[in-house]
Amino acid sequence: MIQSIRGFRDILPGETELWQYIEKEAISVFSDFGFKEIRIPVMEKTELFARSIGEDTDIVEKEMYTFPDRKGDLLTLRPEATASVVRSYIQQKIYAADPAQKFYTIGPMFRRERPQKGRYRQFYQINAEIFGVAEANADALLIFMLMTLLKRLQVTDIEAHVNSLGCPECRPTFRNALIAFLSDRAEALCADCTRRMDKNPLRVLDCKVPGCREAATGAPAITDHLCTECADHFETLKASLEGLDVPFVVDKRLVRGLDYYTRSTFEILTGALGAQNAVAGGGRYDGLIKLLGGPDLPATGFAIGLDRLAELVPTKAESLVRHPDIYIAALGEKSLGLAFQWICTLALSSIRAETDYSGRSLKSQMKRADRLDAAYTLIVGEQEIENGAAVLRNMKTSDQQEISLENLPKTLADIIGA
Ligand code: HAM
Repeated sequence: MIQSIRGFRDILPGETELWQYIEKEAISVFSDFGFKEIRIPVMEKTELFARSIGEDTDIVEKEMYTFPDRKGDLLTLRPEATASVVRSYIQQKIYAADPAQKFYTIGPMFRRERPQKGRYRQFYQINAEIFGVAEANADALLIFMLMTLLKRLQVTDIEAHVNSLGCPECRPTFRNALIAFLSDRAEALCADCTRRMDKNPLRVLDCKVPGCREAATGAPAITDHLCTECADHFETLKASLEGLDVPFVVDKRLVRGLDYYTRSTFEILTGALGAQNAVAGGGRYDGLIKLLGGPDLPATGFAIGLDRLAELVPTKAESLVRHPDIYIAALGEKSLGLAFQWICTLALSSIRAETDYSGRSLKSQMKRADRLDAAYTLIVGEQEIENGAAVLRNMKTSDQQEISLENLPKTLADIIGA
């Protein structure tokens, strides 16, 4: 028996109903905020991700599914969507008509992380990105929209964490202060952090290894090193969130695992998922469009982890499962043929009808009707065909009524539809 790949899983009926419900709510909320859907490929040239996410990140260093195709081009299954949305925005010159654009995209991402609860190698994200708006209100709008969706899905036990990562002007000052602080504690750092210390010391603030966490205690805060423009930008973000009644905490250790971020960064954390506590993450990436060869335009966005969100939504998938409206138990060749025609016709009126294709015994058909939790049953045998009528039974109330077989789909649609 061939098994699925480790870290890749099937989302089955009974669960997919909940996923569809979440996706439907997300699309509804996002479109109310003016976001349009963009669909992008699941595979891109490796270079796109290496340049966007950064060579010295965990994702690019050790988590990408990269392989040469038959012509030798290096390709990668997307570990995230932002780089591809930016690539598309530049390649399709979407900015030419109007640089200010709002997109959302939903789909699978691939990272070769160690699988555990809430962490998969194929996982799903709901992304939202705003291009061409530099003001902090775009970041506030994203966080407000994200919290609105979570509220609509009745997700509780969440906290919005925000921080600013500054810009290429002010970050070097902070980096130097951080390197100076960490160099006194260098021997306590894990191998990854030691190696990346010079190029990417901010990683240490995000490292989960206990030694690194301890070494970073009391580290300088980036918010104390922001230039005037970045500090003002961050103040505006906080004031806007307060104005929108969005509760948040300023988290000076929030640095994110991707290198493209500037200024606002945020994460939605939950206490309900154990170690994998980030439900969503995002921030501003003002330099990325230019870095990838496009115009010098600002951008900001976020991604929700759909696998994790599905764990937090209190709605039970069972309550969303659609059961048959009617089960037609058919006995004998003629009835089987009629029942088959009826179920096809009923589907056109959005009545979900089931029948048996093989003419099994009445007892086994009624058992199946019961197992499927059909709202009504109708038994049609030779006698019923001769009489031109059959008995419709409401399974909840046990009420029975005789109905004519002539124009049966219409009669059923009238009764059940009502
Ligand atoms: P990220 O923080 O790497 O950001 O991922 C966003 C969310 O995806 C995480 O908060 C988490 O819920 C989910 N996630 C990540 N890895 C896994 C995994 N292995 N298994 C299950 N869920 C996972 C980004 O990807 C950025 N592109 C977000 C963004 C959009 N920033 C700006 N625009």
